[in-house]
Amino acid sequence: MPTLQIIIASTRQGRVGLPVGRWIAERAAAHGAFDVDVVDLAEVDLPLMDEPNHPRLRQYTHEHTWEWSARVDRADAFVLVTPEYNHSFPAPLKNALDHLHHEWAYKPVGIVSYGGVAAGTRAKEALEPVLGALRMSAVVESVNIPFVAQFIEDGELRPNDVMEAAADALLDELARVEAALRQLRSEVTA
Ligand SMILES: Cc1cc2nc3c(=O)[nH]c(=O)nc-3n(C[C@H](O)[C@H](O)[C@H](O)COP(=O)(O)O)c2cc1C
Repeated sequence: MPTLQIIIASTRQGRVGLPVGRWIAERAAAHGAFDVDVVDLAEVDLPLMDEPNHPRLRQYTHEHTWEWSARVDRADAFVLVTPEYNHSFPAPLKNALDHLHHEWAYKPVGIVSYGGVAAGTRAKEALEPVLGALRMSAVVESVNIPFVAQFIEDGELRPNDVMEAAADALLDELARVEAALRQLRSEVTA
């Protein structure tokens, strides 16, 4: 089965990103189309980008970058779980994306966003051109959770029907696009 990585973008103490990420990971495992790997950027703990060469050359000089490269290489598709910070997505996610290049290419990506009234949609819109620059295929389906704190109980996300249906539609589309992009991925050489 293809591997779906669920990338948790928020790294701050007490983050809501953890319960949101765990929820979508469970949903993805139950969906059945993917092997699921949860990638917590707080655990990955990349330093701010300090590689001397453009990532498309894959001439990394730091062990942490090689490890990150190997991890992302293993993925066939992604779900990015992102909050909205100041109408955009958090810096650790940009840093994690910028560290690599070919490792992301021709892989479908879905966004689970959350925040206040805008449900993280401004973060999602800010993220999409970055994903395009990396040749990732962002699917239209997404989960957008408004006033996310109201859905957290005892440290867990309690989703409503809309969120569950949106998650399943997102996972269905990721599975379709992942299969369609396999040929292009096989041609990525660098
Ligand atoms: C630095 C910072 C900036 C924020 N900016 C926004 C914002 O622009 N729009 C919004 O809806 N919520 C904003 N929030 C509220 C977050 O969406 C909310 O705190 C959410 O729980 C953050 O995700 P996290 O707990 O996973 O870090 C902001 C929170 C922080 C910490």
